Amino acid sequence: MDMSRRTVIAGAAATGIAAAGMGSAHATGGRKPVKSLFGKLADGTKVYSWALENGGTRLKVLSYGGIVQSLEVPDRRGRYANVSLGFDNIEDYVAKSPYFGALIGRYGNRIGKGRFTLDGKAHQLSVNDGENSLHGGAQGFDKRVWDIEPFTKGSDVGLYLYYTSVDGEMGYPGTLKTKVTYTLTRHGDWRIDYEATTDKATVVNLTSHVYWNLAGESSGTIYDHELSIAASRYTPVDSGLIPTGELARVWGTPFDFRRTKTVGEDIRVPHQQLLYGKGIDHNWVLDKGLTARPEHIATLRDPSSGRTLKIATTEPGLQFYSGNFLDGTLVGTGGTVYRQGDGLCLETQHFPDSPNKPSFPSTVLRPGQTYRTTTVHSFSA
Ligand code: BGC
Repeated sequence: MDMSRRTVIAGAAATGIAAAGMGSAHATGGRKPVKSLFGKLADGTKVYSWALENGGTRLKVLSYGGIVQSLEVPDRRGRYANVSLGFDNIEDYVAKSPYFGALIGRYGNRIGKGRFTLDGKAHQLSVNDGENSLHGGAQGFDKRVWDIEPFTKGSDVGLYLYYTSVDGEMGYPGTLKTKVTYTLTRHGDWRIDYEATTDKATVVNLTSHVYWNLAGESSGTIYDHELSIAASRYTPVDSGLIPTGELARVWGTPFDFRRTKTVGEDIRVPHQQLLYGKGIDHNWVLDKGLTARPEHIATLRDPSSGRTLKIATTEPGLQFYSGNFLDGTLVGTGGTVYRQGDGLCLETQHFPDSPNKPSFPSTVLRPGQTYRTTTVHSFSA
């Protein structure tokens, strides 16, 4: 905790924002996004960092992977902290990032054996997680350089991120044109709008892979964070974390977050599903289902700082991953080692392995259709 406080106060002083006594978490106005060089890839490609600020939220986004490299919000006393895990250099993102802050595509989460059949045609994807395909394969959208255009629109500021994935990339059919819009609203909300079109029938499931720690990255584990998820069912998995197809009730299991509880409360219960995931690494079936407009589905709160994140989405699922595979081998932005449970992901999505589960909501996109989903992250303290 001391560590995060020092980092926060130093950061606030450096940018001239009063560290204490601000009262309102949302006191500042929008600023034009500012671009700076973050680093270079091995082939010389420049990677830029875009800094945005609006409504009290500060966001830094990389052109590599559309990565949220830093997201700062104030605590109940107005003190800022970076609440997303990451690195301070491009080399670590390229060499060893477990998808810190990244855009995930073409398919967020796992596809069993990296195989699916669509319209009678079998497709073999890049396999990068045991026998399965995870987060789009070996070179997913998290490892691509995106074209970025800044915008200011009314009281909003933001970025348009573009990436075109060619037919056959990582085994997926069709050329997929992707546009992701990151907006910071005047209320300090971070909104993500995903859009995609294809020239051949394909499957798509885009998401964002921020690891949250609302006490500040480098401040320890998230087990004391309080969480609620508006879901009565989840999708149990096999030992390879592929859903069995069942939509199981959360009632009476460690997966019941309908009423707020801490992340750590049931994480050591010897439930077979927690053994498979080495903790929580599961998809919740959101009660609201697939919706045309983003609806509230989850609230995460750090009682020590008061920082609260509310998530609304159009998506039918939420992968809650409790940072189980962070193993003390990565040094994060704040200069400390990340260990198991130092951050958690709340990935809005369609369910894992949907291309092989006809009973799950469909992830098929056809020529002439536009894929559109939205997720909104709202911060308060
Ligand atoms: C998955 C985890 C995986 C992690 C990669 C999460 O979305 O659910 O199983 O290990 O991404 O860091």
